[in-house]
Amino acid sequence: MTSVEARQVLTLDEIDLSDIEFWARPWAEREGAFALLRRERPLAFFEEPEIPSELALVMPKGPGYRAVTRHADVTEVSRHPEIYRSGQGATSIPDMPEEMLEYFGSMISTDNPRHARLRRIVSAAFNPRMIKRIEEHIELVAGSVIDRVAGLGGCDFVVDVAARLPLEIICEMMGIGPADYGTVFNASNIILSQGDPEYVQEGADPLLAFMTAAQDLTALMAELAEARRGNPTDDVTSALVNTNIDGESLTAAEVASFFVLLVVAGNETTRNAISHGLLALTEHPDERALWRAHPAAIAATGVDEIVRWGSPVIWMRRTVAEDTVLGGEELHPGDKVILFYNSANRDEDVFLDPYRFDVRRSPNPHVGFGAAGPHFCLGAHLARQEIDVMFRQLFERLPDIESVGEPDRLRSSFINGIKHMDCVFTPVAPAG
Ligand code: HEM
Repeated sequence: MTSVEARQVLTLDEIDLSDIEFWARPWAEREGAFALLRRERPLAFFEEPEIPSELALVMPKGPGYRAVTRHADVTEVSRHPEIYRSGQGATSIPDMPEEMLEYFGSMISTDNPRHARLRRIVSAAFNPRMIKRIEEHIELVAGSVIDRVAGLGGCDFVVDVAARLPLEIICEMMGIGPADYGTVFNASNIILSQGDPEYVQEGADPLLAFMTAAQDLTALMAELAEARRGNPTDDVTSALVNTNIDGESLTAAEVASFFVLLVVAGNETTRNAISHGLLALTEHPDERALWRAHPAAIAATGVDEIVRWGSPVIWMRRTVAEDTVLGGEELHPGDKVILFYNSANRDEDVFLDPYRFDVRRSPNPHVGFGAAGPHFCLGAHLARQEIDVMFRQLFERLPDIESVGEPDRLRSSFINGIKHMDCVFTPVAPAG
């Protein structure tokens, strides 16, 4: 059964990936547009998105970009960081002004040698051995999240379930207490909202909203950092403030932007993967029955199929540093390339029947966490573990849970987000 097909509605020349209205189109129409681009214009050129007038002063419109839509080209770019650089910004199409880079320019937007130096500080906390160590804890948190809704028979799955587990886990890893979970939830919603009107009110200054959200997180961090400096615990904030590489500590701005990156990346993306997972499993009852019947065996492939299917992070940017050729086309220094992971994840040359949601798909060389290269998602092991635990517990405790109605989607080209989605299930008593 196929729920998302590629419906071709737009012609090649009508496709404009920079128009936010494109991203408001039904999913099947967007798939149709990307299928056409992969086939006919795999490195299509687009003008840059319109920048809200309040931002235009500090973020002038740039020269445009190439949309990289084939799997082979996304993989090629990711593998050559010396040619395709991240330092001019990986998460924004326009170059970011200095004052924004201070908060949003952490290691995701750096190149070697700085990138390797920054990544080394936190990589241990996210390696498979460490994630294994907190597995029991992830189980406990997932259990308590389900306990809070078990008796209700229904809830907003995104806000009450999918968002809770990654939020609580990343906060704990960073050393943030429960009293501040609300601040983290709201701030990361705003930072990744691309100005969606639910998070940045119509007419409000988006730059101010992003900066205020980042400052809220930074204020939280400053308090924590003060406590951890000289008195380290085993949390990640302690590693950030007490690190000393070649006699050098991170500057206050580096600690702040690192903190913002980890908190935001750690909670928005996995939330959307879990939400897309429930939606896909509801729409594909046979796949769901299979997962329920063999949770351990299916999770090994099903979790990655959810990430391929939902592609929660739609793109990352790179900037060309030297003359080169990609997919037979010449590129020059300063050219921007945007890696569309959602498109690579449906590439017919790589995936058999790409529009089929197949929890046993193997091999599954999806690029939902990025393609192989130095920036490959730091949190991939953690995210996989969270998705696995969440669906195992949901199937055990609320076996008939399903999504109902149309999900309320985020208006964004960057995050394939679901803001709200109702779910129903037979109520049960909380276990805890
Ligand atoms: C399903 C969930 C997730 C998805 C789909 C996802 C996706 C991605 C993608 C596409 C990239 C960019 C890769 C590249 O440029 O090559 C990335 C990088 C990153 N992710 Fe994730 N991510 C997820 C969960 C997490 C979690 C739980 C964390 C925890 C902190 C995290 C932290 C990061 C960080 C820090 C980077 C930057 C790595 C670097 O530049 O070296 N992510 N992620």
